[in-house]
Amino acid sequence: MPWVTKRFSGDDLSEPAGMLRDGYCVAFPTETVYGLGANALDSEAVQRIFAAKGRPADNPLIVHCCSVEQVCLVARPWQERVQRLMDTFWPGPLTLVLPKQPVVPLTATAGLDTVAVRIPDHPVALALFRLAGVPVAAPSANVSGRPSPTRVEHVMDDLDGRIPGIVDGGPTGWGVESTVLDCSVYPYRLLRPGGVTFEELSAYAEVELDPGMFSETIASPRSPGMKYKHYAPECRVVIVTGRQAAPVIRKLAAKDMVLGKQVGVMAFSEHSARYPHLTVLDLGSKYALQEGASRLYHLLREADALGLDILYVEGLPEKELGMAIMNRLRRAAGYHVIDSERD
Ligand code: TXA
Ligand code: MG
Repeated sequence: MPWVTKRFSGDDLSEPAGMLRDGYCVAFPTETVYGLGANALDSEAVQRIFAAKGRPADNPLIVHCCSVEQVCLVARPWQERVQRLMDTFWPGPLTLVLPKQPVVPLTATAGLDTVAVRIPDHPVALALFRLAGVPVAAPSANVSGRPSPTRVEHVMDDLDGRIPGIVDGGPTGWGVESTVLDCSVYPYRLLRPGGVTFEELSAYAEVELDPGMFSETIASPRSPGMKYKHYAPECRVVIVTGRQAAPVIRKLAAKDMVLGKQVGVMAFSEHSARYPHLTVLDLGSKYALQEGASRLYHLLREADALGLDILYVEGLPEKELGMAIMNRLRRAAGYHVIDSERD
């Protein structure tokens, strides 16, 4: 159904909370990216999310809560170890996959007997959930396959006219989606890296990296969402790793430009001088990866706004937050990675 999308400020939440209670979709800010929410306990409301995003029905949603009591309504935090993770990292960018309670409709979990849950660390999101009085199922508020929205304008670009309401909370903080940890198996499985890092989680429990994190062909049945092409701008993204990344990118870019292509490079501020004749999208300092994470999706959208045909990206070390950034880049690139130190 086409809507005239209403925009609300963060201190004007009674109408959007009413929309959630009535079974409609509302976009809202979190500390990671904007989410597109609906009442998680109402199967019809949940289906409206899938319709607005054009999301495949076999990709389950995260249920957002405002308290641990509410989490227990939808999931079973069945081990002491799980409770320790909740105490340590919530509210925050960590999603836990747990055994589900029967009240959660199978439309929300794509038929799985587990449910992904988190308590976000954002005052507007928490106030909205409290007013609505229901747990809120929410994927990122983008059209399926597009980069996740980190600013309210991104949500408008994708969903204006497709949903009744958007709550404006300014730019989000982390900029990459939450870490997803499957706690229904042990060792726990890291399905998606994010703001809470593998290194941090490993201090509390044994954690394995899910193979689905690194390849689209090894789609893990534990992580249905990982098999879809994601975060992708229209332009082609190519990652170049290793110490020779800059000369290899310069050489490839020169060839592309001879063919009349518009070429750009995404690189850390300290490296921008390596590309004097190219459009450089600045990832911020390599000593402050949080800057890069928070800019990443905006820069991918910017690449399209600039009309780039090809965007080269310097690979970065896959540790701490770098693991999450590389994971999103690899998927935006359709797993196209060139190793500059080979041949
Ligand atoms: O930061 C975030 O997590 C944002 C904000 C809005 O909270 N949400 C978000 O949702 O990124 P979405 O739908 O874009 O990503 C959810 C991920 C998908 O990869 C999905 O497959 C996975 O979580 N997931 C959800 N339920 C699952 C389950 N029961 N088992 C395994 N994976 C699950
Ligand atoms: Mg998403």
